[in-house]
Amino acid sequence: MRHFLSTETWQQHELQAILDRAARYKRDGHGADLAGKSIALLFFNPSMRTRTSFELGAFQLGAHAIVLQPGRDAWPVEFAPGVVMDGEAEEHVAEVARVLSRYCDLIAVRAFPKFRDWSADREDPVLSAFAEYAQVPVINMESIVHPCQELALMLTLQERLGQVAGKKFLLTWTWHPKPLNTAVANSALLIASKFGMQLTLLCPEQAYLPDHRYLDAARAAADAHNTRFEVTHDIDEAYHAADVVYAKSWGALPYFGRWEDEQPVRDQYRHFIVDEEKMAKTNNAIFSHCLPLRRNVKATDAVMDADYCVAIDEAENRLHVQKALMTTLAGEKE
Ligand code: CP
Repeated sequence: MRHFLSTETWQQHELQAILDRAARYKRDGHGADLAGKSIALLFFNPSMRTRTSFELGAFQLGAHAIVLQPGRDAWPVEFAPGVVMDGEAEEHVAEVARVLSRYCDLIAVRAFPKFRDWSADREDPVLSAFAEYAQVPVINMESIVHPCQELALMLTLQERLGQVAGKKFLLTWTWHPKPLNTAVANSALLIASKFGMQLTLLCPEQAYLPDHRYLDAARAAADAHNTRFEVTHDIDEAYHAADVVYAKSWGALPYFGRWEDEQPVRDQYRHFIVDEEKMAKTNNAIFSHCLPLRRNVKATDAVMDADYCVAIDEAENRLHVQKALMTTLAGEKE
């Protein structure tokens, strides 16, 4: 049995097999590869795309999806080991994961960081606990990484660019009024480097560097592929000759848990918005974003409505890659 918590533990050829299966689902239609199976979808945070694409993907393959929102329509859950549970939580993940494993063939979980203490959040406590206690494969629907989004992004890039190795992938930080999760930024670094792309990370200053775990992984993958991974704070240099521009906003880790101190720092950098002027510096790049996206904050209307914007394709591809992922993990035949 294998979990899908992060692409860090999956090799490129294994991920490519999922992408190839996803492309077949997209081309050939549904099938009933998961007939009689079931998946529990646990959302500790809101979602539009993830919930819709997983629920619909399961339905299209003949499976049944059960959506649970602990603390809202299911009991609040405790994750810490060995605690006296005299607070809000009514049951422990040890029971939740084991019970769901008796009912379902797969468990998928969305659990964002608590945004108070990065040293605790970076251990991914909720996903780790489900993986520890579950007796069926666990899928990460976004925590400190977003591996399903990575698959959708890579399928979209392969559709548009063909062979992605050697192409310049720019991950650019953008301003946003709130400090957002670093998950998609971490994931963009992981997937672009794993597939041998020339990777550039653009952020306003050192404080906006993602956790060293993901920088180290990107450097190691770049070394393995004999490609380049560079970090820059120079907008012109970053956009120059890019083949892909991928935008995301995230909070600065040194300010984790004291976001009121980060706000004036972040507010200096509204000009990191993706606009036509910046896109004109690229090698006719495609643009994408995981969505949701605030228009004219992260990217302009003109960029979002341009032919080179593939964000809607990427969102559609969540459906296809997750169907391929579910069938892969559930061990069903193609
Ligand atoms: N990209 C993504 O995960 O979208 P949702 O937050 O709407 O699920």
